[in-house]
Amino acid sequence: MSKFDGKVVLITGAAGGIGKATAKKLAEQGAKLALVDLNVEAVQQVISELGLDDSRALALKANVANEEEVKAYVDAAVEKFGKIDGFFNNAGIEGITANVEDYPTDIFERVLNVNVKGAFLGLKYVVPVMKKQGYGSIVNTSSGAGLIGSPGFVGYNSSKHAVIGMTRVVALEAAPFGVRVNAVAPGVINTRMMRQIEKNTVPEDAEGAREAFSSAVPMGRYGEAEEVANVAVFLLSDEASYVAQSIYTVDGGQINQ
Ligand SMILES: NC(=O)c1ccc[n+]([C@@H]2O[C@H](COP(=O)([O-])OP(=O)(O)OC[C@H]3O[C@@H](n4cnc5c(N)ncnc54)[C@H](O)[C@@H]3O)[C@@H](O)[C@H]2O)c1
Repeated sequence: MSKFDGKVVLITGAAGGIGKATAKKLAEQGAKLALVDLNVEAVQQVISELGLDDSRALALKANVANEEEVKAYVDAAVEKFGKIDGFFNNAGIEGITANVEDYPTDIFERVLNVNVKGAFLGLKYVVPVMKKQGYGSIVNTSSGAGLIGSPGFVGYNSSKHAVIGMTRVVALEAAPFGVRVNAVAPGVINTRMMRQIEKNTVPEDAEGAREAFSSAVPMGRYGEAEEVANVAVFLLSDEASYVAQSIYTVDGGQINQ
């Protein structure tokens, strides 16, 4: 019997690098998946790549920053599968790279809207389902940028600090009901998001930016989405049954050095 046989896991940002890698590992271990993204065609593509039939997977289009759409994706997952065992609250955007005086206010608001309000709304609607069940595990995706300052990233860093704050609060509110809430804090991970950040940071030499980001990591390289997925899957699983309110860095040793 596989670890996630009979379990239902809801993932946001499921079409992206880390969301997809996590969906794949969970599918391999028997989970049923409710996969949410703005880009529902890409989610459908993930489902077909994983070879999941209708009984195992549900593709849901939602903007995680829209309360009605969040309520609808949670309701749809419960309606189809009857429960939610795990929630990977993972959708996020990077914004741009600029010092505070040059950081456009509308982009600051957009980043907070998706990364903070989106994560908050996911918790707001999933926690009551899990409290009622008397069990569940939630993993929020923060970032190394949620633990330290990175010049040029005032929007993104502020948003990911907020995700750590809400993880700490909601973990304490949910723990008495058998619901565990933790966060992963990835460092530089080899997905679309870092490709964009490299371009935003040094438009004329994205490759050079990549080398500079890599060499700042004690392990000397980017992480792969699968390496974040391994930690998220552990936290979602019963093997992490006594892990609550933790922030797991997945960063090659970068953040706490
Ligand atoms: N890649 C990294 O280096 C890194 C490091 C630390 C943290 N993170 C975080 O990991 C998470 C996943 O990032 P990724 O690297 O897989 O990036 P990605 O861009 O590959 O994936 C993000 C996914 O989120 C979706 N999304 C964006 N806004 C949305 C919205 N409003 N509603 C619904 N879906 C939306 C996108 O369509 C995309 O599929 C993000 O929260 C990101 O901030 C990434």
